[in-house]
Amino acid sequence: MKTNRTFTMIKPDAVAAGNIGGILDMITKGGFKIVALKYTALSAEKAGLFYEVHKERPFYQGLVDFMSSGPIVAAILEKDNAIADFRALIGATNPADAAEGTIRKKYAKSIGENAVHGSDSDENADIEGNFFFSAFERF
Ligand code: TYD
Repeated sequence: MKTNRTFTMIKPDAVAAGNIGGILDMITKGGFKIVALKYTALSAEKAGLFYEVHKERPFYQGLVDFMSSGPIVAAILEKDNAIADFRALIGATNPADAAEGTIRKKYAKSIGENAVHGSDSDENADIEGNFFFSAFERF
């Protein structure tokens, strides 16, 4: 397991709004190297599995519905201190609390439709990357 990697998704709101390019630009300008990239979609079943850790939370069903509502972009990113640096680049979960210059400040609509995902630990980055990418799809 590489600890200098994180996993991200550009969520359905940001894809639908035409913000794939703008978000990938902020990611690469932020010093992250893209080592895997995929335009895809989550079924409700797959979205439910991806967010299973939140199963008992009140927002779970809405999150699953939203994340399966349209195409997404999934990517694995590489940088020293990737997890913490990427969480800093995306900003707070609720865009109302996100700092200036962050991806969520610029592109997120609401706490639910918040443009991007970023892994919260090395362990989850590994699990989440494996959820979307085979060994042949990452570099
Ligand atoms: P969480 O892991 O707390 O946030 P983050 O994405 O910043 O790591 O929550 C996962 C997703 O669940 C979050 O991106 C959007 C959704 N969510 C809601 O819809 N409502 C909420 O109150 C929270 C906390 C999260």
